[in-house]
Amino acid sequence: MKKIGYAVLGLGIGLAHADAVLTHPDATLAALCDIDPKKLEKAAGLYPGAKLYDDFEALIADENVDIISVCLPSHLHADYAVRAMRAGKHVLIEKPLDITPERAALIIEAAKETGMRAGVVHQNRFNLNMYPIKEAVENGRLGKLFLGTFAVKWYREQKYYDRGGWRGTWECDGGGSLMNQAVHTVDLMQWLMGDVESVTSTMDICHHKIDTEDMTASLIKFKSGATATFVSTTCAYPGISTEIMLYGTQGSIEADADMIRTWKMADSDDEDEEEEEILARYGKGNRAAAKLEPGRSYGHEHVIHDMIEAVRDGRDPQVLPEEAIKSVRIVCSVYESARTKKTVFIP
Ligand SMILES: NC(=O)c1ccc[n+]([C@@H]2O[C@H](COP(=O)([O-])OP(=O)(O)OC[C@H]3O[C@@H](n4cnc5c(N)ncnc54)[C@H](O)[C@@H]3O)[C@@H](O)[C@H]2O)c1
Repeated sequence: MKKIGYAVLGLGIGLAHADAVLTHPDATLAALCDIDPKKLEKAAGLYPGAKLYDDFEALIADENVDIISVCLPSHLHADYAVRAMRAGKHVLIEKPLDITPERAALIIEAAKETGMRAGVVHQNRFNLNMYPIKEAVENGRLGKLFLGTFAVKWYREQKYYDRGGWRGTWECDGGGSLMNQAVHTVDLMQWLMGDVESVTSTMDICHHKIDTEDMTASLIKFKSGATATFVSTTCAYPGISTEIMLYGTQGSIEADADMIRTWKMADSDDEDEEEEEILARYGKGNRAAAKLEPGRSYGHEHVIHDMIEAVRDGRDPQVLPEEAIKSVRIVCSVYESARTKKTVFIP
């Protein structure tokens, strides 16, 4: 079988995509593209087999390229993903899908129009702790899910914003701590708790010299009737936690990033023993959990391998743009609510 030709566009986090391609037996790292000559020079040393491009049009004309990972600054995702699909390439797009729902929708339309496959990098859905959490929610073990509390308490130094140029700007990043860092957790929130009905939010610039925000706080109402609080910041020195906490009438789960901290299920034959087992397996994060579940991948490797296999097997990738647009819509509604000081309803 001919190997699938994989290309990476944008060589920041794009390098993690390139590394993951190299570990898949059915793909070859065909090409890398960036407009920064220093990035290309570095890539030439790291990936000697890949063709290097500084011109996107030349990249999409390369017949050896089947899939392109779009790892550009967030405001460029739709523009480049659509052009790649129109040139006959499948695309894997970094989060957020783009910085407005209108632009994100262009990706969905182009995938339909061209028949090319489009996947999105929301790798936290594949943290190993998420499998038992999602299963418990779907099987109704928590009873009626009435409350969620979500908090992304991270830290970024000023130089992080100064370095990228595009980071922390409305035009290119589409926001700050919420659009860039916490969008992963927004995605998990709506994936676990369902469609959001409204948001009532505030935001502030607490510590950094940026245009957008480095702190948001929201009250979220779901179509199900449940409620959640959601806070995001890049000012919590030195970076504290990512809290994903779910409370139902029959059970409670508290997770921190890729770990599970609390697991209480009223329907359990032995609540304490079940919690002990879950914490032993998922209490220390992905790396420790993966030792007990050989063959199960997570992080970027999981998502890139899934994309390769989706194209190889003629199926959809695990996270579609139709799913990823939901977190963009929620984030933009939070910003609108914070600006207008009004509750924003999501149709
Ligand atoms: N999934 C994750 O955990 C994760 C982590 C980091 C970043 N991201 C996302 O990945 C995207 C990129 O972030 P980053 O941190 O790698 O940014 P970055 O600034 O480090 O890298 C972006 C690269 O794109 C290149 N570039 C810009 N315009 C280009 C163009 N027109 N053609 C070719 N190359 C171009 C730049 O030269 C740069 O090397 C963002 O959308 C970000 O939100 C996701």
